[in-house]
Amino acid sequence: MREVLQLLRDGEFHSGEALGAALGVSRAAVWKRLEHLEAELGLTIHRVRGRGYRLASPLSLLDREAIAAASRSAGWDALVFDSLDSTNAEVLRRLAEGAPAPLLVLAERQESGRGRRGRSWVSPFGENLYYSLGLRLEGGAFALDGLSLSVGLAVARALQEAGVVDVGLKWPNDLLVGGRKIAGVLLELSGDPAGACQVVIGIGVNVNMLPGAAVAIDQPWTSLRERSGQLVDRTELALLLGCWLRRYLERHEREGFAALREEWESCHLWQGREVSLLAGAQRIDGIVLGVDRQGALRMDVAGQERQFSGGELSLRLRDDS
Ligand code: ATP
Ligand code: BTN
Repeated sequence: MREVLQLLRDGEFHSGEALGAALGVSRAAVWKRLEHLEAELGLTIHRVRGRGYRLASPLSLLDREAIAAASRSAGWDALVFDSLDSTNAEVLRRLAEGAPAPLLVLAERQESGRGRRGRSWVSPFGENLYYSLGLRLEGGAFALDGLSLSVGLAVARALQEAGVVDVGLKWPNDLLVGGRKIAGVLLELSGDPAGACQVVIGIGVNVNMLPGAAVAIDQPWTSLRERSGQLVDRTELALLLGCWLRRYLERHEREGFAALREEWESCHLWQGREVSLLAGAQRIDGIVLGVDRQGALRMDVAGQERQFSGGELSLRLRDDS
């Protein structure tokens, strides 16, 4: 499957004959493989008589060797899959089976990518980054407080270095550009948070997906490619993300989120804004003051400072702000 995709990934026309010769199979076998790609991976392949086959859009596939080499030098194990239910789920399964950590898992697509609070994360083949890093933590050695905020900051730095200069954070860990979501972070934990536990840091970045792609996303979103107008090398972005994650995770481990608090606030898009905090059916209106040393949201609610934390909370701008 990868072989034929490697040939087609430029988005240019390739004749059935040329593909057959490169793959060492008949033209009929080429046609079968392409049908399989369309059915299995949801890719669109155009066929034009006399010209051959081409992908509807060029693809930047993950370079497994480059990822393995960079991960080795970071001391991480790394696995790249064509397709998974969810990279977070795969990391949790492997760690539960005793796999060594840190463990990085990437996939070309996810069939059940997950977002916060049971939402699904749209994960088409070859378009975006679906990136999960699993860590084993021993009691209190690594503060979980604010960890997802530190990760958000690392993702923001990686995106800035990749040219998305105006990316910012929305508490707790959304990354937005011009009010549109470009990336999200989902931390999942197993074991005892106060003792031996495993945490998986899941990061989804919209990289080459373009509006008009047949995806159902129920809020404004964007991608690196939409911002730059160019196909982005997903491997380069994954490596960049790894560098920034290492840097921020080390800092977080050494000094805790408290050391990153001010920097986080300087990237927070909604500092000082009038917001509503939603917790199920409950809604609390206030003004964002910032975050505390544990990453909890600080809000001025009717003239009094209050702190809020927990995975079930959602922040929205007040319509009138
Ligand atoms: P909050 O955390 O404040 O509730 P949120 O509305 O962004 O923010 P999340 O659960 O964090 O909710 O993220 C999931 C949402 O992100 C989806 O409901 C969708 O609107 C948006 N989104 C942007 N890009 C994607 C993507 N590739 N796949 C799925 N959802 C995406
Ligand atoms: C959010 O809701 O904003 C968080 C989205 C996190 C998506 C990533 S993609 C890689 C990893 N695997 C998953 O199933 N989810 C996370």
